[in-house]
This record gives sequence, C-alpha cells and structure tokens, in this order.
Amino acid sequence: MSDEIKKGLLGIVVDETEVSKVMPEINSLTYRGYAAQDLCAKCKFEEVAYLILNGELPNNKQLKAFEKQERKERKLSKTLLADIKKIPRKAHPMDVARTVVSIMGLEDNETKDNSPKANLRKAMRIFAKTPVALAAFYRARKGKKMIPPKKNLSFSENFFHMCFGKVPKKEIVKAFDVSLILYAEHSFNVSTFTARTITSSLSDIHGAITGAIASLKGPLHGGANEEVMHMMNKIKKPENALKWINNALDKKDVVMGFGHRVYKNGDSRVPTMRNYFGKVAKIKKDKKFEKIYDIVEKVMIERKNIHPNVDYPTGPTYHLMGFDTDFFTPIFVISRITGWSAHIMEQHAANKLIRPLASYKGSQHRKVVQLNQR
Ligand SMILES: CC(C)(COP(=O)(O)OP(=O)(O)OC[C@H]1O[C@@H](n2cnc3c(N)ncnc32)[C@H](O)[C@@H]1OP(=O)(O)O)[C@@H](O)C(=O)NCCC(=O)NCCS
Repeated sequence: MSDEIKKGLLGIVVDETEVSKVMPEINSLTYRGYAAQDLCAKCKFEEVAYLILNGELPNNKQLKAFEKQERKERKLSKTLLADIKKIPRKAHPMDVARTVVSIMGLEDNETKDNSPKANLRKAMRIFAKTPVALAAFYRARKGKKMIPPKKNLSFSENFFHMCFGKVPKKEIVKAFDVSLILYAEHSFNVSTFTARTITSSLSDIHGAITGAIASLKGPLHGGANEEVMHMMNKIKKPENALKWINNALDKKDVVMGFGHRVYKNGDSRVPTMRNYFGKVAKIKKDKKFEKIYDIVEKVMIERKNIHPNVDYPTGPTYHLMGFDTDFFTPIFVISRITGWSAHIMEQHAANKLIRPLASYKGSQHRKVVQLNQR
C-alpha cells in the first residue's frame, strides 16, 4: 500500500455521483446534466430542487405536487418554535441552523428509517422547515414577532415574507432564486463530503445534514460570503479599495471570496450571479459595493491570477436585499439541503464505509509508567 499522503484529499476521486458535474476545464457546472446557468435562466428554484432530489425536471403536475408538499411541511412544531425563542440572541445563525435540524431529527417519526422513500420524505421536511426556523430566529433575536409561513408564496417569496413581513419586487425575488439555484449543489465539496462520510456509517439524514451545516460554516467554505461582506464594510468606499487590496496582498492575506479548490480559472457560477448582483444594485440605487467589487476583482486577477468564487457576488447581493450579514451562510444552507440530501440518498444506495488511513508520526512504542512513578 502506498504511503503517499494526499493532504486535503487533493485530486483524489473517492466515489461516483450522478448529482452534478464540475468541469473546470470548460468552466461549467451541470446538475443532472443541465447547465446551472441554463437552469437559472429558465427555471424557478423549486424546479431545480425537484431535479436535484428526484433526478429529472418536473412537469407541471409534478411541480404542483412538489410545491404543495413543501408548503404543507413548512409548519414547525410548537416545541421547536418555543426552543427557537429560547436560543441566545447572540448565537450565530449557522449554529442555530445546525441545532434546529438536529431537533427536527428528535421530532421526526422516521428518523431511524433509511429507506429511499423515507429519506426523500425526511429531506422534504428538512427542506421545508429549515427556512421557517431560521426566519423565526431572524425575528426572535430582534425582539420581533415571528411571522408564520404563507402557503400562497413560493419558497423564495416566503423566506422574504417571514424575515421582513413583505415580499420585494419580482426582480429581487428572481435574484434570490438564482442565488439559491447556484448554491444548491456542487459535487464533493467539504460539507457534502462530510454528509456522505456521516451517512457511510449508516447514520441518519438529520445527523448528516447537521454535520454538513457545521462544515459549511467555516470561512474557507460557505462562511466566505459573510467574510466578503466584512471585507467590503472594512473597505467602506470605492476610493479606498485599490489601496486596501494591494495592502492585503502585500501582507499575504487570504482574500475571502476568491480562489477555489477545483476552479482555477474562474468559478462557472460567478458570471450569472454577478449579473444579478448588478440588477439588484440598480434597483436599490446603490452602486458602492459594485464599484468596490470590480476594483478588488481586477487587482486579484492582475496580481495573483486568482478569480472570484460564487460567494464574492452573493455576499453584497444579500446585503443589498436587506439581510443581516450573519444570515448569508444560512441562506446557502436552505438551498444546499437539496444537494446534501441527494448525496445522502446516493451514498445509501451504494454505500461503502468511508475510512481513510493516516501515516503515523507520533512517539515510538513506549511502556506506560504507573501514575505514582511519573
Ligand atoms: C478556497 C480555497 C480554500 C482553495 O484552497 P486550495 O485549493 O487549497 O488552494 P491554496 O489555498 O493552496 O491556494 C494556492 C495558492 O493561492 C493562494 N490563494 C488561494 N486563494 C487565495 C485567496 N483567496 N487570497 C489570496 N491568496 C490565495 C494561496 O495563498 C496559495 O499561494 P501559495 O502557493 O503562494 O501558498 C482558497 O482559495 C481560499 O482560502 N479562498 C478564500 C476563502 C473562500 O473564498 N472560500 C470559498 C470557496 S467557494
């Protein structure tokens, strides 16, 4: 057996998947064979969620049934709502997301059933309830009354409604929908691999998604969209951007929202999201962040040849939509639940326990000395 170490599993192919394909050489990403940007142009988020979970795009009847089920499952238990009220206001919403999915696992009648049908039903419940729980916390921590979900609103409209008490212009809802489509799935990234690893011991979907959320929180993964906003707030105005980014690169800082393990010549999701970021900035009549965005991007490419990833445009877009910065990664969660669930089901369907090896570099074999002689 080779002892060669592949830190970070760099370049290692560990399994097969039918869910999505990342093609850095042609700068493309497909979900079940459809290009993500094509899906953004022609579909609403619910169609893509259906595609990822079920393998095919829905027809009208299938979509209606899917939406009906999602809307029905939005209702939270009284216990969960009471628990959310008790969560400390200073808690990070990603920790709240992790906790509420875990609590849903305690409440679910099918937690132990890992059959494909039960897993799909549980995935639907987690998908429908998590945004409601997060929006409830969004309100609760501000001391505001929680707003219950509305069955006549789409997934995205309902999220705005539950957070802000109103649904914005349809162009803003579309930009949000597009961000959810782009965040929905991305093959064997850290959080998905975490979910698959947890699943590989034949553990349950609530546990796997809870672990995936913990993994997504980190700034090298989903947490980057929040860090991008912190960076833009530090830069404050376009006039400061050039000096700020040059200074950061001189200090060899890692600039959040740039670089990618797989895409080395640009993230295929960025052009679509950049376009919608521009649309939102125009509607909000606020071009400041767009200007900062362009200056920082230009310097990163010129000096380092490092391109932005999707978290770079989503961060300021969510800010302009009115969301608190620490809610950016939880928005990523409500979308990625679809991708995680599909991978969890795929792992169950052809499972092999994930158990890599380590090259030991600790002490040589030694004898234990009794406590009183140490
Ligand atoms: C995503 C990321 C972890 C990929 O990491 P990776 O594939 O392990 O690549 P590395 O971190 O080894 O980067 C290779 C080189 O590019 C540099 N680099 C990569 N991303 C960079 C960034 N965002 N800012 C500055 N330098 C960066 C590294 O410092 C390294 O330089 P070196 O060879 O001189 O040491 C990394 O690009 C990063 O930390 N980006 C910022 C966080 C982020 O936006 N994450 C969201 C990803 S979707």
